[in-house]
This record gives sequence, C-alpha cells and structure tokens, in this order.
Amino acid sequence: MKFGHFDDDRREYVIERPDTPLPWINFLGNQAFFGLISNTAGGYSFYRDARLRRLTRYRYNNAPLDSGGRYIYLRDDDSSKYQDEPAYWSTSWQPTRHQLDEYQCRHGMGYTIIRSKVAGIESQTRHFIPLGENLEIWELTLTNHREQTANLSVFSAIEFCLWDALDDATNFQRNYSIGEVEVEDGVIYHKTEYRERRDHFAYLACSETLAGFDTQREAFLGHYNGWDSPSAVQAGQMSNSIASGWQPVGTQHIKVALRAGEQKKIVFILGYHENPKDDKFDPPGSQTINKRTVKPIIARYLKPDEVEAAFQALRAYWDKLLDKFQVNTPDPHTNRMVNIWNAYQVMVTFNFSRSASYFESGIGRGMGFRDSNQDLLGFVHLVPDWARARILDLAATQLPDGGAYHQYQPLTKRGNNDVGSNFNDDPLWLVLSVSAYLKETGDWSILNEPVPYDNTPGTEQPLYDHLQRSIQFTLDRIGPHGLPLIGRADWNDCLNLNCFSDTPGQSFQTTTNKEGKVAESVFIAGLFILAATEMAGIATQIKHPQEANTFTSAAQEMEKTVWEAGWDGAWFRRAYDNFSNPIGSKECEEGQIFIEPQGMCVMAGLGIEDGRAELALDSVFNRLTTPHGIVLHQPAFTCYYLHLGEISSYPPGYKENAGIFCHTNPWIMIAETKIGRGDQAHDHYLRINPSARENISEIHRCEPYVYSQMIAGRDAPKFGEAKNSWLTGTAAWNYVAITQWILGIRPTFEGLQVAPVIPSAWKRFEVQRTYRGIRYKIHVVRTGPGNKTLLEVEGKTLEGTTISFPPAGTKEVSVIVKIGGD
Ligand code: BGC
Ligand code: NOJ
Repeated sequence: MKFGHFDDDRREYVIERPDTPLPWINFLGNQAFFGLISNTAGGYSFYRDARLRRLTRYRYNNAPLDSGGRYIYLRDDDSSKYQDEPAYWSTSWQPTRHQLDEYQCRHGMGYTIIRSKVAGIESQTRHFIPLGENLEIWELTLTNHREQTANLSVFSAIEFCLWDALDDATNFQRNYSIGEVEVEDGVIYHKTEYRERRDHFAYLACSETLAGFDTQREAFLGHYNGWDSPSAVQAGQMSNSIASGWQPVGTQHIKVALRAGEQKKIVFILGYHENPKDDKFDPPGSQTINKRTVKPIIARYLKPDEVEAAFQALRAYWDKLLDKFQVNTPDPHTNRMVNIWNAYQVMVTFNFSRSASYFESGIGRGMGFRDSNQDLLGFVHLVPDWARARILDLAATQLPDGGAYHQYQPLTKRGNNDVGSNFNDDPLWLVLSVSAYLKETGDWSILNEPVPYDNTPGTEQPLYDHLQRSIQFTLDRIGPHGLPLIGRADWNDCLNLNCFSDTPGQSFQTTTNKEGKVAESVFIAGLFILAATEMAGIATQIKHPQEANTFTSAAQEMEKTVWEAGWDGAWFRRAYDNFSNPIGSKECEEGQIFIEPQGMCVMAGLGIEDGRAELALDSVFNRLTTPHGIVLHQPAFTCYYLHLGEISSYPPGYKENAGIFCHTNPWIMIAETKIGRGDQAHDHYLRINPSARENISEIHRCEPYVYSQMIAGRDAPKFGEAKNSWLTGTAAWNYVAITQWILGIRPTFEGLQVAPVIPSAWKRFEVQRTYRGIRYKIHVVRTGPGNKTLLEVEGKTLEGTTISFPPAGTKEVSVIVKIGGD
C-alpha cells in the first residue's frame, strides 16, 4: 500500500493523505539555519545546534506523534459550521485534524509544499530556507473557489523554545519566569535571555497588517485548550498579549476578504538574528532590541518576488549539486535514489550526523566521530570544501594518543566529555574519509594542515600526523589473539564486552567494569587492514615509500592474525569476549554469525583469491538474508547477557539484536562486487532500497524516499517495519555501494576508475559524472555475460579500467565501456 507517489521530474515525493503511518518529514536548510518539517507541518527550527540554539518547541514521543510545528489556521468568518465541523481548520491537517476536501504534501529538495482545500477555500504553503539566510519562509497562497466573497481569518502559530532545548524541557523552576518578547510593527520578537548574555533573538514577521496577535500561550489557546482548538481561533479574536514568563508563542491574526476566484499571497518569516554585542540595544542603555540590523532582511523577504527569486535560487542550487552524478539504468529505483533522494539524504546526514531528527531529539547527542567520517564518504563529491572543513574539525577533536571523542557539539566543536573516548574503531574512520577526500579532489595540501589535538592550541601537527596516530592507536591496543582490543564498543555500539552492567539506567556505552585488555574485535581488524592499505596508498602518493611499506606490512600482519584467530571455517568471527571466548562462531549457541566482519573483511580484500570470501558471503546469504534485508546476526540473543552488553538488551529482531541494521547491508553489496557477483549485490541493494519498498509502506511505515536506520528483523513481531529514518550511515554507504561498486565509477589516486559489476540482465546504462571539474560521459553496454570490461576513452582503447587524469583544460571525456564476453 502506498500513501503517495514519486514525482521524479520535479524531484519530489508527493504525499496524498495526511495520516501517514509515521510523520513523513523533510529537512530545510543546509548551511546554518535549519528546520525539520513533517507532511502535516510539524517540526522545529534551529540555528546550527539543535540542542543549544533551538528556536521552536517540538514534543517528542507525544500523542499524537507529531506535536508542535509551524501551524496555519483558517477560519471562515461568515459561517460557524461546515458539514458539522467548526468553521476553522488547519491548512496542514494537524493540529485540528478536521476533514479536508483535498490534501497534498510535496517534499522536495530543501522545501515542502502543503496544499489543502476545505469548502472551496484552497491554501498552499511553501516552506523553505533561502540559501545563506537564517530564516524560514512560509509562503501562503489562498484561493477562493467559491462563487461569492469569502471573509477569512488567517492565524499563524509557533511556540518558542527558550534556546537550550534540554533546559527548556526540564528546568521549569527558571523557565516559567524568563520568557520575554517585543512586538513592533506587527513583528513578534522573541528575546528571552537577551537582557543578559545572549545577543541573538528570533522573530516572526508577516507581509500583512495584523488584526491582532498573541504571544502568551495561554492567551492564545485558552485556559485548558490544546493546539487543536485555540480559543483565539474559535472566537476569531486575539488579545494582543505580551508574554511575561510562562510560554512565549508567536501567533498572528490576519483578516482577508477574497472575492470569488481571487487569489492572495501572504508571507510569514520565522527568523534568527544576531546583533553585535556592543550594539544590542536601541537606544543604547535601554533593554529594547536593536532592530535596525534585522529590518532590511525582514523587509526583503516579505516581498513575494524576492521569495520567488530565493526559491528559484534554491532549486537551481540543487539542480547543480545533483547534476554531479546522474545515472540512467534499466532500474527505476536505482535511478531515483542515486539521482535524487540518496544524494539528498547524504547531504542531510553530513549536516546533522546523528544529532537532530524526529527520533534523535537534538538534545542527547552531538556529531558522531565515526558517523561523520562515514557520512563524508558519500558526500565528498557534492561540496568538497565542506568536507575539507569537516575533516579538520573532526581531526581537532582527536586525542594525543590517536583516540577520539566519540561525539562533538557542532556549535562549540568541542569533544563531548559525557561520552568520552575509547570506542576503538573511531580513529580508523578518519583515514577512510581523508582518503576519499584526496581521491575526489587531489587536494594533497590538506595533509599538511596544522590541526591541534583535543582542540588545544599549541598542539598542532599536520593532518598526516593525525592519520599516523590513528593507525598507531590500533597497534597500541592489541589483545591476546593479536587482534585489536574492542574498547567500549566498535562500530556496533551495543557490543559492550567490557561493560558488565547489572544496574538499571547505567549507560552501556560509558560504563566499563573490566580492564579492557582481553576482549577483541575481528571487525576492527578488518577495518584496520582497509585503513592501513589506504594509508599505504597515501604514503606512496606523497613519496614516502618506506612508510608505505610499513603500512602494508602492518595490514599483512593483521590479515595473518585474522586467518589464524578470526576465521570460523565458513565465515569470519565477530569478536572475542572478556573470557577470550569467540563471538560469532559456530561454537556459540546464539549470535553464531554476524554481518559486520563479513562485509568489512571482504571489503579489505580478504579471501577474494582463495574462495573464502565467497564462502563467507554465501553464509551471509543462507543465514542472514531476509526479504527485507540482511539481519545483523543469527540466532538473535534471547536473554540479557552480562558479558555482551546492550546488544542482548533489545528484544530479538530489533536494533543491534538481529535487526536489519541497514548501515551494514551495503558492506555486503560492496563485498559481492569484489567477488564479481553483480546479481547478488544488486539484489541486496533492492531489498532495502526505500523506493523499492514504497508499495509496502503499511509494513515499512517510514518514509519511502529515505533510508531508515533499522528494519525489524525476522525474529521481531513487526518484521519489516522500519524505524529511525534519515540520520543513518546507511545513506552514505548505499550511495558508495551503488555508485562506486555496482555501477563501478570510483575516484582513485590515479584517476577515475570504471569497473561496473552489474546485474546480468542489465543490457546498458549511462552515467554523467563531474570529477575534478571534468564531465565524464560514460556509456556502458553489455556484450556478454560476466564483468570483464573494455574501455574506450575518446575513441581510444584503454589498458585497464582507470582513466588517468586528462590534460589541463579538458572539459569533457567520453567513455564507452563494453562489459562481459571476451
Ligand atoms: C542505541 C544504539 C545506538 C547507540 C548510539 C544506543 O543507546 O541503543 O542503537 O547505536 O546508542 O550511540
Ligand atoms: C548508531 C550509531 O550512530 C553508529 O555510530 C553505530 O555504528 C550504529 N548505531 C551501530 O551501533
């Protein structure tokens, strides 16, 4: 069952009814000001940091689920009832949930358009954030389809957050007394704490003259009413309240008379503005906000033609970004995800890492170190400069011993002390992201950038030194079998082998009751081999052959260890616990085989020549693959094991306890391409591809246009149900798997490589890829079975599969690829 459809020409997903199984959301903004918006206009806005600089309130896990948003109410001032409904309604269905005659929501690239119709009154609201601005526009277009004049009241409504979202939700002792606003020329300014240390404020402006406003929540809603029945809307009358403490809101009332057939645009702006510290007040010495600096911005965006121009600029921006990689294959789901939604999601994951979505409250977590480095793998070709800056920010949170804070706060860029370090895989991901950046850009200067450790001035060392220490970090932490020690956890945050927690409420991630000198990770071993091999490549490029040899030997040494201690006969083991017993082995009763080391070790090149990779991937297929994707391990853990930690805390089939943790599936796709099995690789790709799952939206339940973190595994009662959409490493890794390994178009140190491993039924595909400023036009034609490729570049046959860098000034390169046959 579907709840909408894809409109690929406009790069939109069109939702056709408001009661989607879960709020289906979109992200607005991609520089400093951001908004999250659902298909019923729920969500919140913030400046840079969802926890520390939150503009509007949102209530997580509420009933109904999507509570709090940017709401517009319409009231028919001529009539008190329609079809037994009161004469007011929400244009986005929520929060009043009155029956709408028509409804449609279009989520596009950085914008959302919600259209509805009730009793001949059509409304359409276009929400977006203009490029480079710290404000969100809601452009409302009203059309009167009746045969007579309609006298309407329009109400806008948001609830301000008192900036720090955690404090706002907990510290009522203070919060009930600090709320302050100013209202001037119809603009509502939210200025809580502006009197003291803040020099920023929020505002809600409108292009029309107001009939009234309210800024105290209780005045707008009424004493015991909710957002579904504000008394001011019911009465059609505001009380011009000025908030003093309690809950400041921004609500405005506009009266509109629309003749038959008439259309009218009304613009609302929700914005954030900072003033110079020494010029905060006007007049100086007063407590009144200096509004001179913000007024020109407000005046500009209240003009409909400026709004239209800003919207067109946003569209053009995304056209240009997405144009960097466009593919045309025989499979519509591949095309749609690669060309539009997967790339779009990659931008969102790059921006937020795991900090802010409907499921990550933006309160509890900062930007993840391993997460951000992995997100970058799919993002780097979109805006390489941002990737560069992100790499330097991440490296600056590295500790002198090569370890890394697990998370950092985006506003302060400081490591998050609450979570700390000792997730022993973390530093290795930095090597992968830097290597991807170098391959994409050829900007070798980044290796010489001085970067501090733990953000401490005076400790700066070239970025290359950080990478060396990342590798050394693993080598300094080797366990009894010669495998890397796992620390608090590796990629699987819930495999907590040193935790041994028996106290409710303790954090599995930060509690450590064992010394940590025994438990080892085969996964980190695989990741180490991959990272050390990348380092050897980098060292060779910068002409440090000696070092390159050292890295290669370290990788070889680790590979030997994996075969000795990490191979279980038909697949790779997962780890060794604190008693040196294997995890992920046929010797175990539960958790006999795990997906992660199969993907990582084969990606690192293990067993490709001697058939053991094939054996491991067959084991994955036979034991872990389901119609909804590949589960994390089998059998699921049926009870809590003190020595395993959080992984066994989840009911079987959910999350890390044998859920389909989508992030890991593309590792298997890549591994399948490494052994030349294009059919299997693409089959795995389609099983979790959200567009390919659109028809089962009633089972999948999350958005059909973006990946979710998890799909419930076969052990769960809700097998096939997705959870925690949007912010997941799944986005970047799927993008890498499909574009670089299945379609096979990947940047290398030597040039662009074209080595597709595609399904046998594909007769052809075309790609246009901008790489280092040059447009590669690639036509792939199947001439027979198999993956053997023959490249013709600009009409000349090429040896191998890598197209070396063309001479300066080249704008376009045409490539013909024959695949299969002799
Ligand atoms: C969750 C895990 C998640 C981890 C991230 C835990 O609380 O249960 O699924 O991977 O947090 O840090
Ligand atoms: C989510 C975390 O953000 C990520 O870092 C981790 O690898 C996965 N969960 C798996 O535990």
